[in-house]
Amino acid sequence: MAKPIGIFDSGLGGLTVARAVREAFPGENLVYLGDTARVPYGTRSAETVVKYAIGCAERLLSFDIKLLVVACNTASGVALGELQARLDIPVVGVIQPGALAGVKATRSGRIGILATAGTVASGAYERAIHSENDAMNVFARPAPLFVPLAEEGWITGDVPQLAARRDLQPLADADVDTIVLGCTHYPLLSETIHAVAAELLGHEVAIVDSAAATAATLTEMLGASAGVRGPSGSLQILVTDLPGQFGTAASRFLGKPLQGLDIRAIDL
Ligand code: DGL
Repeated sequence: MAKPIGIFDSGLGGLTVARAVREAFPGENLVYLGDTARVPYGTRSAETVVKYAIGCAERLLSFDIKLLVVACNTASGVALGELQARLDIPVVGVIQPGALAGVKATRSGRIGILATAGTVASGAYERAIHSENDAMNVFARPAPLFVPLAEEGWITGDVPQLAARRDLQPLADADVDTIVLGCTHYPLLSETIHAVAAELLGHEVAIVDSAAATAATLTEMLGASAGVRGPSGSLQILVTDLPGQFGTAASRFLGKPLQGLDIRAIDL
């Protein structure tokens, strides 16, 4: 059997990345690890997130993965270098692809980033964007309520709109024309974020999903097998805790029901 691609996240939000990878490369086998027992990572210290990220990566290596995707923005922001130094397989984070997509999308050179507090504090999006083009103006803001809202499925209506107005106002004040969704959970709220941002800014704004941007960058790494249409690849889901609401939340992020998937609880 072909070696799988390993993907990990702090929890279930990274299934948005697994979904994008599956759509782009339906023939690939994927092993997804969600650290549901220790989510969220976004509010923890960088040191703790690095330690957790190493644990997730090491467990995925036991599946003989050929490539590791760090689906979690917070872990990509603080632990990517450490993982790349430790592992002898390619390790891809979500920040560089999201940053590049943001640079390509902007016309005014004013890019907003919405992310967890940990990702914002890491300054990783600013560094990644400036490594592409140092003339860009980057405004990164935390949007802490979007994570629980996405998990609860409150993705449209008054409550997410209120949260979006609060968190997007500073980006509207900075007059950005592009907003990068720098967190696994935020793509679920992209409709609300787009509508509220356009309303506050008074003009159209491009919304960049770093999950989709990351899947697009794998083409080169997967080489000849990329995009080959064959039998569908497998998706195995490992979680460090299997809570009662797991099925509803996981299928929301994955965009489809979980029937037929191999789901296992593991200890790290
Ligand atoms: N996966 C995290 C991220 O993309 C969001 C959830 C968390 O805080 O763990 O930053």
